[in-house]
Amino acid sequence: MKRLLPLRPSAMVLHHSSSSRSGVAWVLQLLCLWTLSFRAHGGGPRKLYIAYLGHVKHGHPDDVVASHHDLLTTLLGSKEGSSASMVYNYKHGFSGFAAMLTADQAKQLAEFPEVISVQPSKRHTPTTTRSWDFLGLNHQMMGSDMLHGSNSGGEDVIIGVIDTGIWPESRSFSDSGYGPVPSRWKGKCQVGHDWGSKNCSRKIVGARFYSAGVPDQFLETDSLSPRDHNGHGTHCASTAAGSAVEAASFHGLAKGVARGGAPRARIAVYKSFWGLGFGNTATVLAAIDDAIHDGVDVLSMSFGVDENSFGVLHAVQKGITVVYAGGNEGPRPQTVRNGAPWAITVAASKIDRSFPTMIMLGNKQEIVGQSLYYRGKNSSMSSSGFKGLVVPVSCDMDILNGTDVKGKILFCTMQPSDQDVFQQAAQYVQDGRGSGVIFAQYTTDLSFTALDVCQGIACVLVDLDIGKKIASYMDDASSPMAKIEPARTVTGKEMLAPKVAMFSSRGPSPDYPAIIKPDIAAPGVNILAAKENSYAILSGTSMAAPHVAGVVALLKALHPNWSSAAIKSAIITTAHITDEHDMSILAEGLPRKIADPFDYGGGNINPHGAADPGLVYDIDPQDYDKYFRCTIVKRASVHCNTTGMLPAYHLNLPSISVPNLRSPVTMSRTVTNVGGVDSVYHVEIQSPVGVRMEVDPPVLVFDAKNKVHTFQVKLSPVWKLQGDYTFGSLTWGNDQKVVRIPVAARITIQDFYADVA
Ligand SMILES: *[C@@H]1O[C@H](CO)[C@@H](O)[C@H](O)[C@H]1NC(C)=O
Ligand SMILES: *[C@@H]1O[C@H](CO)[C@@H](O)[C@H](O)[C@H]1NC(C)=O
Ligand SMILES: *[C@@H]1O[C@H](CO)[C@@H](O)[C@H](O)[C@H]1NC(C)=O
Ligand SMILES: *[C@@H]1O[C@H](CO)[C@@H](O)[C@H](O)[C@H]1NC(C)=O
Ligand SMILES: *[C@@H]1O[C@H](CO)[C@@H](O)[C@H](O)[C@H]1NC(C)=O
Repeated sequence: MKRLLPLRPSAMVLHHSSSSRSGVAWVLQLLCLWTLSFRAHGGGPRKLYIAYLGHVKHGHPDDVVASHHDLLTTLLGSKEGSSASMVYNYKHGFSGFAAMLTADQAKQLAEFPEVISVQPSKRHTPTTTRSWDFLGLNHQMMGSDMLHGSNSGGEDVIIGVIDTGIWPESRSFSDSGYGPVPSRWKGKCQVGHDWGSKNCSRKIVGARFYSAGVPDQFLETDSLSPRDHNGHGTHCASTAAGSAVEAASFHGLAKGVARGGAPRARIAVYKSFWGLGFGNTATVLAAIDDAIHDGVDVLSMSFGVDENSFGVLHAVQKGITVVYAGGNEGPRPQTVRNGAPWAITVAASKIDRSFPTMIMLGNKQEIVGQSLYYRGKNSSMSSSGFKGLVVPVSCDMDILNGTDVKGKILFCTMQPSDQDVFQQAAQYVQDGRGSGVIFAQYTTDLSFTALDVCQGIACVLVDLDIGKKIASYMDDASSPMAKIEPARTVTGKEMLAPKVAMFSSRGPSPDYPAIIKPDIAAPGVNILAAKENSYAILSGTSMAAPHVAGVVALLKALHPNWSSAAIKSAIITTAHITDEHDMSILAEGLPRKIADPFDYGGGNINPHGAADPGLVYDIDPQDYDKYFRCTIVKRASVHCNTTGMLPAYHLNLPSISVPNLRSPVTMSRTVTNVGGVDSVYHVEIQSPVGVRMEVDPPVLVFDAKNKVHTFQVKLSPVWKLQGDYTFGSLTWGNDQKVVRIPVAARITIQDFYADVA
């Protein structure tokens, strides 16, 4: 860690390398200094702050860095102070820096005219065989359909993965048969501990790591290199772009061909997370800045970071499509993270695969739960007989502690999404040399966090009904016993699937309430993908996001000049809202219900549909600027027009959400024909309950001259009461295409924008 020099506010000098600054700026600068010399004494602890300066204004990155140092020197009063507190310079995709500052210094820095915002760096944590067949992307069909035909699995596309690094020896990252690295690639292979230049290849085309500003305790358990000792990054990278590997499995479970969504795409690794998963705004922004410089096409980000949304915005404006995990805080509403309108935010759905596990009770009654239990060589269940069942009053640690579980099976009832109890109880059984844990809970969704602590012991989930059966058996039996068999793998269409997973975070976005988030659901439950040299099953929106990143890579290969907005539109408007049997897709929750747009955005991803969507809702990426600058940064800047805020529902998104419908509002949307040249589309309206929706014109006629049409959408409240959100849709269709966008509206009697936006 860098040592900080003491501040010497009295010794401040003005130092400018750039002579282009106007007289006005000089005056402001001096005023800032004046106040600074009084305030800088208010020391306090230094913390990592991010200063954001907007677009890169100086030509060469070195000049950008020099301008940052000038600014910090002005603030801190000495060049030494500036160098000592600077942690990262962002200089390629956007201008800004991360520096160690006191709260007062951060406040003063924010007053500088060239500084748009100063925010503390926040801590972030990172939150597939079968899944691709389920989505209709069968690897044996490579070359025989539109998505895989002409573009050979996205070989020219580079997917950047910002995560915990990668394990280059995994078979999923073999580069055999790959052509040369695309010549436009400008990234590098940063060597380090456990990582040589040969670890990059035609598959892993670049790898960097960001350890500055990361506390030593997280670095100590890791390699100072792009190598992944956590497993999360390797899992995500192989889900997005792993090469096909035959007969991959997790101890025999989920056996099949493991492969990424775009199995021929190239991977660029940006390690911003350390140890068990420590990362922060500063390390993530450094990765985004380099990814823009290096030339990635897609960024896959499986962690939560709304504060970084300006970095992501710059990436999108440079043509990169950014895919984010929506978070694992469901099923409560307003838990979705990463809600920025320019990114694709992904919910997690279940696929048609489960791992039924037979439990036989002492009275020979057979019941079925779900687990990933396998009988390893050293497992305490390897003697396959009956074990004693223990049921404590509660499995909370303070009550459980002291219970003898040696050689026994613990039985717990837990609240939905009570991950801590689950985790701690499993660990307790592991430590106490117990045989297993049976958890009774509302759903049998396997939890993404539980698996690590279940190695060698049997962790079985049962629903509450089955939990009651076990409890009543235990009441009757004098010495209750149970025997747990290893899990089996079952796949097939007779299962209810897809379903939005219990843990998947739900909208509306707390940060962007006027935008429907998440955007799309993708497989994120029990996903098999690479971990070191073998394969592991993980669940979470972290696993869902790289599925979408893989699909984006295929779409980019197929349609190289589509904007990120066009790609996102294609994914949303073609998503499935029903399953194979025409049944509505459900969302796990309390209670389980038919999924709505705040569960899954447009629906469950449909890669083949997205390849040929008919119409797209496109957005010029520069359009986000006025909206972003004015509403998020809340600072009158040249990008804001005098009228002020532009309500988000005017943005040409492939969705409509009006969180404060009090009187009729009219917005416009523009669609671009990317399908057959001569096409006619008719509108089909499904108004949200309590709202009247009108679309004008109701018919759009496209031909060689008219590829783009704008239409008006008017939403009028029918009810006069404040209500909850209701949902509908707006669909343009003909006998070949269905272009559907979700609509959400909430009738209010308050002035929402004055209070919230
Ligand atoms: C990666 O680099 C390390 C250290 O140089 C080396 O031991 C290892 O074999 C390399 N792995 C691959 C796949 O090249
Ligand atoms: C697993 O079993 C082998 C042989 O039975 C033993 O040598 C080894 O220490 C065991 N490992 C663990 C983690 O218990
Ligand atoms: C359990 O109890 C022991 C002894 O009283 C104590 O040392 C330990 O910290 C407790 N563990 C937990 C997780 O509370
Ligand atoms: C892509 O580029 C081609 C050729 O320049 C052009 O005809 C087409 O309209 C473009 N498509 C989009 C969606 O911009
Ligand atoms: C300013 O914003 C308003 C919406 O708030 C918009 O109607 C108007 O066209 C904008 N003016 C300019 C010059 O961009």
